[in-house]
Amino acid sequence: MIFQSCRLPTDNLGLNYPSRPCPTLLPSTYTTMTTSQAEQLFSGLIGAEYDMLRVICPAAAEVSHRVGRRVAGWQPAYPVAGPLQAFEIGCGTGITTLALLSSRVDLIVHAVDNEPTMLDQARVHLRDWLESGRLSIEHTDALAGLRNLPSHSLDLVASGYAIHNFLQDYRRAVLAEILRVLKPGGLFVNGDRYGLDDTLEHTRLTQQEVRHWFKGFGELGRLDLLESWVVHLFSDESPDHIMRLGDSLRLMEDLGFQSIAVDYRDGVNTLLAALAP
Ligand SMILES: C[S@@+](CC[C@H](N)C(=O)[O-])C[C@H]1O[C@@H](n2cnc3c(N)ncnc32)[C@H](O)[C@@H]1O
Repeated sequence: MIFQSCRLPTDNLGLNYPSRPCPTLLPSTYTTMTTSQAEQLFSGLIGAEYDMLRVICPAAAEVSHRVGRRVAGWQPAYPVAGPLQAFEIGCGTGITTLALLSSRVDLIVHAVDNEPTMLDQARVHLRDWLESGRLSIEHTDALAGLRNLPSHSLDLVASGYAIHNFLQDYRRAVLAEILRVLKPGGLFVNGDRYGLDDTLEHTRLTQQEVRHWFKGFGELGRLDLLESWVVHLFSDESPDHIMRLGDSLRLMEDLGFQSIAVDYRDGVNTLLAALAP
């Protein structure tokens, strides 16, 4: 067991360093570094019953599989000795993690998430992979986890439906860190909710999506979950968070990502890949 960190003086993105212990004890598998701009949007009902994602977004499972397939088909353009080292951002209950681990045998995944409710489920779902030594899971937020890694140390950074939850400045900082930690030629692959640049069409699709939720959760008698997901959607759609595709591509280009490509798009559900220079 270790001590949970207290809130300490922060840098410009609010990184709290764990030098002063608080009385709350956490399991030793939990790390102690967090970034204050990292929100925890999955701590309530939607995190506890995340498997209900199939009701609100059946397309997410397809995109997660595609993240795995993209990784399966990737060959680094540089010589590799030993297994590929991957970092997964926001593993949640392990849906995309499983797609990654199943994609190829020469892959080791270090996954992070800042929500214990989700990680508890991941540890159950992915128990065999944890025991195999090909997976480690850390309770920390994406930015803190990335900042903990040496430069040019990873072959691959992957994520599924996590990055769209970030605040704009936090997301920019995370993308910059991804570039720093990837080896030259390393792969970034993200299957996620990228808003349409056509804002009218985006609103129409969102309204259609919400109607579908009312129907699905209504039939199941789960108005509690409906409420939680609608509240969450307000966060996704807010100017502070919304991740539109065009803005994202421009940002990645500005930061220095190369070979940026949209490999798949179904409404907002998108698979995007890029290389580090
Ligand atoms: C929609 S879920 C997706 C989970 C999983 N990747 C999947 O494919 O199903 C988003 C996950 O990102 C996590 N998350 C959100 N913000 C985070 C942050 N700043 N750092 C780490 N994880 C974060 C949430 O806790 C949640 O588990």
